[in-house]
Amino acid sequence: MAALSPSRRPVRWLTSLLATSCLLPTTWAQYYKIGTKQEILESARTLAYDMMLHYKGNKTGEIPGILPGPPTEHKGDYYWWEGGAMMGTYIDYWFLTGDTSYNHVIMEGMLHQVGPNEDYMPPNHTASLGNDDQGFWGMSAMLAAENKFPNPEPDQPQWLALAQAVFHTQAAPDRHDKTCNGGLRWQVPPTNAGYNYKNTIANACFFDLGARLARYTFNQTYADWAEKTFDWLWNVGYIDHSDWRVYDGGHVEKNCTDINKAQFSYNAALLLHGSAFMYNYTNGSEVWKDRVDNLLTGILRDFFPEGVAYEVPCEGRQGACTADMLSFKGYVHRWMSTVTKIAPHTTEKILPVLRTSTEAAVRQCTGGPTGRRCGFYWSGGVFVDPAVDKTSGAGEAMNVLAAVSSLLIQDTPPLATNLTGISKGDPNAGSRSQGPSEPLSPITTGDRAGAAFLTILILGSAVGTWSWMSLGD
Ligand SMILES: *[C@@H]1O[C@H](CO)[C@@H](O)[C@H](O)[C@H]1NC(C)=O
Ligand SMILES: *[C@@H]1O[C@H](CO)[C@@H](O)[C@H](O)[C@H]1NC(C)=O
Ligand SMILES: *[C@@H]1O[C@H](CO)[C@@H](O)[C@H](O)[C@H]1NC(C)=O
Ligand SMILES: *[C@@H]1O[C@H](CO)[C@@H](O)[C@H](O)[C@H]1NC(C)=O
Ligand SMILES: *[C@@H]1O[C@H](CO)[C@@H](O)[C@H](O)[C@H]1NC(C)=O
Ligand SMILES: *[C@@H]1O[C@H](CO)[C@@H](O)[C@H](O)[C@H]1NC(C)=O
Ligand SMILES: *[C@@H]1O[C@H](CO)[C@@H](O)[C@H](O)[C@H]1NC(C)=O
Repeated sequence: MAALSPSRRPVRWLTSLLATSCLLPTTWAQYYKIGTKQEILESARTLAYDMMLHYKGNKTGEIPGILPGPPTEHKGDYYWWEGGAMMGTYIDYWFLTGDTSYNHVIMEGMLHQVGPNEDYMPPNHTASLGNDDQGFWGMSAMLAAENKFPNPEPDQPQWLALAQAVFHTQAAPDRHDKTCNGGLRWQVPPTNAGYNYKNTIANACFFDLGARLARYTFNQTYADWAEKTFDWLWNVGYIDHSDWRVYDGGHVEKNCTDINKAQFSYNAALLLHGSAFMYNYTNGSEVWKDRVDNLLTGILRDFFPEGVAYEVPCEGRQGACTADMLSFKGYVHRWMSTVTKIAPHTTEKILPVLRTSTEAAVRQCTGGPTGRRCGFYWSGGVFVDPAVDKTSGAGEAMNVLAAVSSLLIQDTPPLATNLTGISKGDPNAGSRSQGPSEPLSPITTGDRAGAAFLTILILGSAVGTWSWMSLGD
């Protein structure tokens, strides 16, 4: 978790940086072409190769499924959840391009991280276990089922069952309490800082999984949860009732009325994605069409100035984007492209914007010794080294891979349901789960109250001065 600096003065750092970089002796020609389907395939293949160089998980002695990290242990820039997001990016990459080169790496990574109860709560990552972190892995498992990604061996956990397990653990009574009239908390373990924050992304992941499970299994129970979760987000005011801006979250001590109004692109895009699945599941209901259309209007207005993806809360202020935020553009592109499949009336609004945005994305991929390294700042038209944001560039690379491969969305087969799919589900998945694994010695009620009190004290004193961000870690 991190905080926005209290000073929100816009710094014209990018402009001055661009001015300087024009004076640099080497200027590379644009490497990637995306004019034809062949060029898109070729570019995606190279982007997928370069992105994989960030992944160490299939090397001897390394841990499958994760990107180098977590930062809290000084092992790299990336939290556990981003490995799950990367797995999803490659499940789509294969679906969109047909390139099977990385399928075995993805299969291995997806299965290594399931945890002892096969619900994506591995003990190694309890300290950063948010509902959203678990949710990102669950959404990648769901995607594997929808895309008909090859099944694991029969003695291994199956994609649909894994997605159900994540959903069922999040629907369980221990994740839902009466504060703020409902909704999921950000963190799962009560001892984690941020347990007192109820935020949009945690609820959006749960909502999205519910909508997708409803559409896939035709089971209304999932749709009921999705509906209830969307209503909660609306009633608590995290979705603006007039302009459909999507805000970050609020604290339980304040009945979630201290809304942090930071607008992260992935919050709005995930609500759009889930709403499109509900729209499809309900055979095109007016209620969900209205939500799809309003969220889409807001997203195009706020996150695509000049038709190019822009991360509103941090872009334009040097060093303000965290490693988490530096990966959001890719999810936004992937989710919006999928929306065109299941809510086809949005196609003409979405696809032209994804195209201009992707053109800008590849234009700035001119960095590094290869002359094709990608940065995060797509609007500037010039490569800015990920080092300015103190990362090794995995999110930056993943964004462009996602954007380029998603240009192929219209050539893909329909997403599977349990009538057409190949993944085996389990209506009882997740029922063995006992909540997150605790640290070695059991925590007494006294310890827990103490830790919670400390969290409240620390976070409470910060409210008003700092805006606490919900990050996906
Ligand atoms: C890791 O995966 C990449 C991509 O599939 C492959 O080229 C490489 O040989 C693999 N390394 C190991 C040690 O398996
Ligand atoms: C958990 O972390 C340990 C130590 O880094 C590692 O050896 C092990 O493979 C990890 N387990 C999983 C399931 O990732
Ligand atoms: C699909 O899921 C529904 C609800 O769980 C179930 O009733 C039905 O039997 C499933 N159909 C197939 C073909 O598996
Ligand atoms: C629908 O899903 C719920 C939640 O997983 C489950 O309890 C119920 O048995 C399912 N119903 C059918 C008909 O499969
Ligand atoms: C808390 O906020 C909800 C709306 O989100 C409202 O319905 C409820 O009355 C509020 N509770 C208190 C104690 O203020
Ligand atoms: C959607 O239409 C199909 C086919 O007419 C029907 O079986 C299904 O129950 C409908 N779904 C909903 C949620 O109304
Ligand atoms: C639902 O999705 C399918 C493709 O999976 C599409 O053909 C259909 O038109 C969609 N339904 C609505 C109401 O848009």
